[in-house]
Amino acid sequence: MLLWWWSAVFLMFIHGSRAQQTYVDNKQLACEENATTALGYVCNSPATSPTCQSYVTFRSQPPLYNTPSSIATLLHSNPNDITALNNFSSNSATIPANTVVVVPIRNCSCSGGYYQHNASYVRQSGNETFFTIANNTYEGLTTCQAMITQNTLDYRNLVVGDNITIPLRCACPTATQTAAGIRYLLTYLITWGDTFTSMSETFGGVDVQSILDANELSPTHVIFPFTPILIPLTTVPTRINTSATPATPPAPPTIPVAPSGGGSSSNKWVFVGVGIGVGLLLIVSLSGFLVWFFRRRKIQNQRILPPAKHTPPKVMIPSESKSWSVSSEGIRIAIESLTVYKYAELQKATGDFREENRVKGSVYRGIFNGDFAAVKIMKGDVSGEINILKQINHSNIIRLSGFCVHQGNTYLVYEFAENGSLSDWLHSTKNTKNKDSVLGWKQRVQIAHDVADALNYLHNFITPPYVHKNLKCSNVLLDSNMRAKITNFGLARSVDDNEDGELQLTRHVVGTFGYMPPEYIENGLITPKMDVFALGVLISELLSGKEATTTTAATTTGSPEKDEEKDVVHVQLSEKIKEVVGGENVREKLAAFMDGDLKGEYPLELAYSMAEVACKCVAADLNDRPHVAEVFVVLSKILSSSEDWDPSDELEHSRSLSHGR
Ligand SMILES: *[C@@H]1O[C@H](CO)[C@@H](O)[C@H](O)[C@H]1NC(C)=O
Ligand SMILES: *[C@@H]1O[C@H](CO)[C@@H](O)[C@H](O)[C@H]1NC(C)=O
Ligand SMILES: *[C@@H]1O[C@H](CO)[C@@H](O)[C@H](O)[C@H]1NC(C)=O
Ligand SMILES: *[C@@H]1O[C@H](CO)[C@@H](O)[C@H](O)[C@H]1NC(C)=O
Ligand SMILES: *[C@@H]1O[C@H](CO)[C@@H](O)[C@H](O)[C@H]1NC(C)=O
Ligand SMILES: *[C@@H]1O[C@H](CO)[C@@H](O)[C@H](O)[C@H]1NC(C)=O
Ligand SMILES: *[C@@H]1O[C@H](CO)[C@@H](O)[C@H](O)[C@H]1NC(C)=O
Ligand SMILES: *[C@@H]1O[C@H](CO)[C@@H](O)[C@H](O)[C@H]1NC(C)=O
Repeated sequence: MLLWWWSAVFLMFIHGSRAQQTYVDNKQLACEENATTALGYVCNSPATSPTCQSYVTFRSQPPLYNTPSSIATLLHSNPNDITALNNFSSNSATIPANTVVVVPIRNCSCSGGYYQHNASYVRQSGNETFFTIANNTYEGLTTCQAMITQNTLDYRNLVVGDNITIPLRCACPTATQTAAGIRYLLTYLITWGDTFTSMSETFGGVDVQSILDANELSPTHVIFPFTPILIPLTTVPTRINTSATPATPPAPPTIPVAPSGGGSSSNKWVFVGVGIGVGLLLIVSLSGFLVWFFRRRKIQNQRILPPAKHTPPKVMIPSESKSWSVSSEGIRIAIESLTVYKYAELQKATGDFREENRVKGSVYRGIFNGDFAAVKIMKGDVSGEINILKQINHSNIIRLSGFCVHQGNTYLVYEFAENGSLSDWLHSTKNTKNKDSVLGWKQRVQIAHDVADALNYLHNFITPPYVHKNLKCSNVLLDSNMRAKITNFGLARSVDDNEDGELQLTRHVVGTFGYMPPEYIENGLITPKMDVFALGVLISELLSGKEATTTTAATTTGSPEKDEEKDVVHVQLSEKIKEVVGGENVREKLAAFMDGDLKGEYPLELAYSMAEVACKCVAADLNDRPHVAEVFVVLSKILSSSEDWDPSDELEHSRSLSHGR
């Protein structure tokens, strides 16, 4: 697709010439899968340097690998070199746990197409696998895949005493790097809390861009702990200045964002122009290009502190134990743009919260000065939602107009969305069979476009940026013109929301099954790509009319996961869309996937483009998912093409709709 090609060209343009080494991502985790990046750094300049001096880092690991001698044996290096370079007192000096030791590797050479330095390891106990040896013993300096490829041993049938070849990752500078004055490449092991900036500082101010280039990374790429990354060095490395970090299990890592337009070179304001359709030029600012890193919650060391940032003043609503009248007063001062209602006003507007005014759950319809508004009753601390919504001004995000604090409850007053939630339109109408309440093609595209517009705003246009975290069909409301507005910011997180200016990676996974991406379910990782995943599911729902997760009685087909107690299968729409877009007979599969309520009234080519975007959005690897800004551009194009599609038909359709409900 042209746009994807465009963004690829664009990325190459901003990152300049990169052809260096590819970062392993988290591919080293999947031993059975054969990702080439997991096999090693490719020999890309065999003529200039068949072997070279290189360096790796290793974190002191008591009780076995915490002296220069034992580390040298493990890594097949020279203990004297290690002692001298790191200024240890002797080859048998005890190195405090987790100290970063720089290990010189004299002969990094090419074998089998990969740069490496061979060490050997004798399997010590029955619970060691290639994965634990690579990840835990060698701390990520090798991968199980490289070990599988280079050992004749069957990795599934190892015995104690097996002598295993360990291909350690190292690399030699390319001709381009040499020309730029780079003499050595050091393999550094990423840990919790590292960022491109912190790594730059650790190695005496190495240019961040040169680190990115050396690993073919963009500033927005997520990097993972226990993976190697290359640091290009112009001089021999020196002892690394880190105080030993305690060997306690790491606190949940966090992913802060560099401030938009800040001083860091890994952080840019970029504008990209993309020509769309006939004469339509969309300028999309990929501003606030987010820089995602892992960060440690507790910072032991100044060097990994993020750059200072300006956080907007926060409104804290005390918890219920505190005095509510005082807090209401505090909020009144802080939020001048919001109306603070008296409880009596809400009672009057909602007819004393009469049942017939109840929209859904704890949301009531009220009339304020002749206009409808929604009143949502919330218990406890809702400062999060208020803090976010008070600073947001976007037509596709539900507007908070005021609030009231009364007897331990907070009443939030929102703009009213006449047409209810998207899930009502897509999913419940199936039962009521009201023909007027079926969304037409153009409306569906418009809704997807509106939601992408809102997410783009949240991710890229406000400071601090927000991740919605709970995007789903029932959190998308439709106004009188069937334009979408996203709501329910109860789970939204600022990407620098706590006192350290950092977002914690959560161990407390909440959300809606079917919309949550794998990295969130497995690791609690929160990035904007989480919303992109949910957007992909939402687009799939708009296309198919099916729910994010459907449960059906088990048939003989084995593929979907089986529930243990009953014979039911959970079908994830995010998996289904991949089946539709991939493989053969895409047309037939897509036509079968599309919502029957559309009665075939949709342009198949555009439906395919939508399905394709949705499929990219739900990629299992978050780095394979597009940025929401890119999705927004594609949806804009589909929307403008849909405008041209069969207008007379659509006009009739939308007329009947505007009288519906
Ligand atoms: C990985 O692929 C290579 C060739 O592409 C093959 O020789 C090797 O056996 C594969 N390894 C695994 C574990 O599939
Ligand atoms: C190396 O260690 C010694 C003491 O062990 C110390 O006096 C010296 O300053 C250190 N050198 C460097 C460069 O840190
Ligand atoms: C490693 O390099 C040294 C010189 O630094 C050389 O004498 C030795 O033969 C090399 N070993 C291998 C295995 O290439
Ligand atoms: C593996 O077994 C050894 C003892 O044989 C034990 O010390 C070690 O903790 C075990 N490792 C794991 C990961 O279970
Ligand atoms: C890899 O090793 C690190 C450090 O020992 C450990 O914290 C982490 O859990 C390991 N990863 C896996 C997937 O076991
Ligand atoms: C490393 O070991 C592998 C497997 O034993 C071998 O094929 C390769 O030539 C060795 N490489 C070096 C540089 O010694
Ligand atoms: C393991 O093999 C390597 C070479 O492949 C050899 O240098 C080393 O001595 C062996 N280790 C043991 C304990 O046999
Ligand atoms: C290491 O720390 C010392 C003092 O703590 C400082 O003088 C020195 O410049 C630091 N070196 C680097 C490379 O940051």
